[in-house]
Amino acid sequence: CGIVGYIGFRQAKETILTGLKRLEYRGYDSAGIGIVTDEDVEVYKEKGKIAALERLIHGVEIKGTVGIGHTRWATHGVPNQTNAHPHQSYSGRYTIVHNGIIENYKELIETYIPNIKRESETDTEIIAHLVDHFSQKGLSTEEAFREVIGKLEGSFAIALIDGQDTSRLYAAKNKSPLLAGLGEGENIIASDATAMIHVTNTFKELKDGEYVVLDRENLVIKTLDGDVIEREVYSVDWDMSSVETGVYEHFMLKEIDEQPAVIRNIITQYQNDQGQLNIGQHLQGLKIPSRVYIVACGTSYHAGLVGKRLLEQIAHIPTEVHIASEFLYDQPLIEGDPLFIFISQSGETADSRGVLDQIKKQGFRTLTVTNVQGSTLYREADYKLLTHAGPEIAVASTKAYTAQIAVVALLSIYLAEQKGIAGSIDMFQELRTISTAMDTLKDMKDKAKHIVDEYLTDQRSCFFIGRLLDYAVCLEGALKLKEISYIQAEGYAGGELKHGPIALIEDGTPVFVLITDERIAKNIRSNAEEVVSRGAKTCVIAAEGLHEEGDQWVLPRVHPLLTPLVSVIPMQLISYYAALQRGCDVDKPRNLAKSVTVE
Ligand code: G6P
Repeated sequence: CGIVGYIGFRQAKETILTGLKRLEYRGYDSAGIGIVTDEDVEVYKEKGKIAALERLIHGVEIKGTVGIGHTRWATHGVPNQTNAHPHQSYSGRYTIVHNGIIENYKELIETYIPNIKRESETDTEIIAHLVDHFSQKGLSTEEAFREVIGKLEGSFAIALIDGQDTSRLYAAKNKSPLLAGLGEGENIIASDATAMIHVTNTFKELKDGEYVVLDRENLVIKTLDGDVIEREVYSVDWDMSSVETGVYEHFMLKEIDEQPAVIRNIITQYQNDQGQLNIGQHLQGLKIPSRVYIVACGTSYHAGLVGKRLLEQIAHIPTEVHIASEFLYDQPLIEGDPLFIFISQSGETADSRGVLDQIKKQGFRTLTVTNVQGSTLYREADYKLLTHAGPEIAVASTKAYTAQIAVVALLSIYLAEQKGIAGSIDMFQELRTISTAMDTLKDMKDKAKHIVDEYLTDQRSCFFIGRLLDYAVCLEGALKLKEISYIQAEGYAGGELKHGPIALIEDGTPVFVLITDERIAKNIRSNAEEVVSRGAKTCVIAAEGLHEEGDQWVLPRVHPLLTPLVSVIPMQLISYYAALQRGCDVDKPRNLAKSVTVE
C-alpha cells in the first residue's frame, strides 16, 4: 500500500491524487481520499485503481487544502469499497490511512474497545477507534496518537486527521516506509519521494518508532516520549520527467529504453576523475569475506543468481543465493566470516528485511545493493551500494535488474583487487561496450513484436531454456512474461528439460532458447532439437559467433560473464509486446505490487 498526507495551500484532492498515482506501484486493489472541506472531512473510496476513484469523484466539488490518501494492496479483508481506506473512528472524529499490518489488533480490541462495532474487516479501522478511545479518556490528540502508536505491533505507516482540529496532520511509521517533504507554507508526507516530487524535492527521513506532526509552517519529528528530534534535510535531483511516462505509453518501455543510460550512469558514479574504481569509499573497513550469501526476492533474486557467478569467478569468493522468504525460516549453517548481500530495488521488501534483522542479530556483516537511498534495507545494513537507476515505476522490474548486476560486477572487481587477484577485466570498458550493445538491442522493437505475433499469439504456455548464465536469464525472462502477459512461462535448465517438463511439449509449444556461452552452445542446441522433435516451435536467441541460420535474434558479443545484461533485453521486449498484444495493463499487472512490505 501507499499513503500520502498533505497540508498547505494547494487543492488537496489534486495534490494527493497525483501522489497516489505515483504510489500505485505499491498496490492498486482500491484507493481512497479524505479531504478536509468547509463542511467536514469528506471520504471517497473505490475498489480498483486510482482511475476508478477519479471516476467516482469526477465532477464532485471537493475543496480543501488538507487531506490524506491511500492506494491499497489487500492483506486483511477482500479488496472492496468497505475495506478501502481512509477509515474513520466510531465518533467520526478521526480519519486514518495505513500501510502495513497490525499484528496485535485483536488483543487491542479485547483490551480497550471490546464492544466496538467494526465497519470493515481491516486492522486499520482499529487504530482510528483506539485514538478516539484515548482522546475520550482526556488525552490530547497528539497524546492519544502517541499512546496508540506505542501499543501497535507490526508494520505501519499511518496518517491521521483530527476532524476537530484540521490545522495539523499526524503521521507515524514502523517498518513501513514513510518520508516527510518540506515546502513553504505547505508540508507533505508519503510512502516515497516520487509521490511528493510535484510539491517539493526536499525531504526528512523518518525512522521506525518516530512520529511527525505537520502543519502548514512546521514539520516536527518526535520520539514516542514526545521529545523533538532534529533531523537533517536532504534533496533529490530528480525532476518530473523521472516520474512521468513522457512520450512513452508505459513506464515499462521507458525503463527498458533507459538501460544503456543507467549503465553509463553507474560507470560515472563509481569511477573517480582518474578513471579508477572508487566503489571502495562506500566499503570502508570491509574485510574480505570468506563466503557471500546473497538474499533477495523476485527479479532481484534473479540478479543475485548472476551476481554469484561474478563474485565467484572474478573475486573467487564462494557465494550462495537465497530466496529471502525461505532463508528466514530455514537458515543454512553459516561458518567463517561471511558477508550478507541484500539485493532489492525498493529496499523495502519485508521478506528481505526479515532476513536482515535476523542476520544482524547474529552479528554478521551486511551490505545492501538498492535503488532507493534512505530505504529501510539501505539504512539498516552496514554497507550500502546504490544502483543509480532512477525511479523504477513499472511493476515489472527491468532497469533495476541490469543495474544490480552491473553494480555487483564492480563490487566483484573491487573485492578481487583487495585480494590482489584482479585479473585482466577492464570492467568500465566492458560496461561501456554493454551500454552500446543495449542501445542496439532496445531499438529492435519490431523484431520483438514480430516474435510475439509469430510465437505467442493465442498461446497459454511456453518455455525459456538455457544453460549456465543463460539459465539464470531464462528464469528472469519467464518471470517477466508471466507477470505481465499472464502466459504461463517456465524458465528451465536446458539439460534438465528431459527429466520431466519435456512431457509438456506439444505441437506448436513455444520454446525460447538462449545461447551465449560457447562452452555449452552445442549442448543447448541438442536440447532444442529434443523439443523440436516433439513438436515445439523454437525461437533461438544467440550471441554473435554462436548463431546459426534460422536463429531469430543475434546478440552483440560482450564479456562472457556479462551476457545477462544484453540477453535479458529481448526477453523484456518480448514480454512487453506480448502483454500489449493481449491488452494487459503492462505497468500494473493484476494481483501484484512492486514493493511488497508485508511478509
Ligand atoms: C515484488 C515485485 C517484483 C520484485 C520483488 C522484489 O514482488 O513485484 O518485481 O522483483 O518484489 O522487490 P525488491 O524491491 O526487493 O527488489
